[in-house]
Amino acid sequence: MGRRDLDYLVVALMFITGLYAAVSGLLADLFGFPQFLLHRYAGYACVALVLVHLLLNKERVAAYLRRRPKGARRQEQPLSPRRRTPVIGRRGFLLAILTGALGVLMGRWTARAEEGAADDPDWRYHEWSKPGGSGWSGLLRDWGSRPSPYKTYPDAPRISLPDPGGFRGLWLEEAIEARRSRREYVPGVLSLKELARLLHAAQGITDPRGFRAAPSAGALYPVEVYVVVHDVAGLEPGLYHYAVADHALEQLRVADLRSAMVVAGIGQEMLGEAQVCFVLTAILQRTRWRYRERAYRYVLLEAGHIGQNIYLAATSMGLGACAVGAFLDDRVNDLLGVDGREETAVYLLTVGKLTS
Ligand SMILES: Cc1cc2nc3c(=O)[nH]c(=O)nc-3n(C[C@H](O)[C@H](O)[C@H](O)COP(=O)(O)O)c2cc1C
Repeated sequence: MGRRDLDYLVVALMFITGLYAAVSGLLADLFGFPQFLLHRYAGYACVALVLVHLLLNKERVAAYLRRRPKGARRQEQPLSPRRRTPVIGRRGFLLAILTGALGVLMGRWTARAEEGAADDPDWRYHEWSKPGGSGWSGLLRDWGSRPSPYKTYPDAPRISLPDPGGFRGLWLEEAIEARRSRREYVPGVLSLKELARLLHAAQGITDPRGFRAAPSAGALYPVEVYVVVHDVAGLEPGLYHYAVADHALEQLRVADLRSAMVVAGIGQEMLGEAQVCFVLTAILQRTRWRYRERAYRYVLLEAGHIGQNIYLAATSMGLGACAVGAFLDDRVNDLLGVDGREETAVYLLTVGKLTS
C-alpha cells in the first residue's frame, strides 16, 4: 500500500469516526442517552486520524503555510503550472479552526455545568458505572481474576442443617400480601429446621448446576450469609457462616452477641430481641472481575433479592422479619472478622417469633 492509498484510507476512517462521534454525541445530548456506543473513543480516534493525515501530508501543509506571507496579495503570487489551487482558502482555514475551538469550549462549558448541577457521589457513581462511563481508566484498569463463589472456614466446627424441603407454608401470593416489616418479637426458640429453611431461601442451591434460590448476575454469587444466633434449638448462641455448597453452618464464635448487635445497629433493639439476625456481606471481586464498573450495583441488587427471599420465607412460616440498612459498617465488619474492603457487610435482617 502506497502513501497515497494509506492517506485515502485515513481520510475515509476520519470521516466515519468523525460522523459517528458527531451523530452519537448529538443523540446523547438530545435524548439524554448515556455516553454510549463509544462516542468518546470515536472522537479521540478521529483526532488521531487527523494528525496522521497531516503527518502524511506534511510537505503540502508546510508549503501551504509558507506560500502566503503575512500581507501578501493574491495577485502577487503567480501559481506555477504544477501548483494546485488549495482546496480551502486562508479564511476558510481560519474559520474551521475558530469553529472547532468554539465547539471545544462549548463542550467543556456544558460538561462543567452538568458536573456542577449534580455534584453528588451517588450520581457520580451512577454515571461512572454506565457502559463506557469510566472512560480510558476503566478500559485500561486491571479488574483482577475470578475468585471462587464459595467461601468456607475449613478450621471451623461444622453443623449439618436439616433438609429444608417438605414444608408447605403460605401460598406465594398470600406471603406477598402478608409480608410486613415486623420489629416486635416474643421470647422463644427457633427450630434448626426453621433456620435451615430461611438459609435455603436466602442462598440455598436449588439446581444441580449450582444455581441458587436468589438470582445473581452471571451466576457469580457475590453475597455471603452469616447468622448471629440468639435463640435456636441445638445451636450455641454466637456467630455462624452459611456454607452454601454443603448446606451447613460453620461456627465462628460462641458468644452472647445481643448487645453487640444492638450497638452495631445504632440502638435498634430488635437486633437483640430477634431469635436470629442475618448479615449479608459482599465479596465484590466475584462480580467485579466480569462486570467491572457495574459490579457494585449488581451486588446491592442481589442482596435485595436475598433479603426479600428471607422476608417471604419467614412470613410463610409465621415468623416476623425486618430489614436493617442502618448499621455501623465497621462495627458489623469487626464482629464478623471481615476486612470491610475485600468483603463487607451490606445488609442485615432480623427474624423472630411473633405473638400468635
Ligand atoms: C434497604 C432497606 C433498609 C431498611 N432499613 C431499616 C432499618 O434500618 N430499620 C428498620 O426498622 N426498618 C428498615 N427497613 C424496613 C422499612 O422501614 C420497611 O420496609 C418500610 O417501612 C415499609 O414497610 P413494610 O416492609 O412493612 O412494607 C429497611 C428496608 C429496606 C428495603
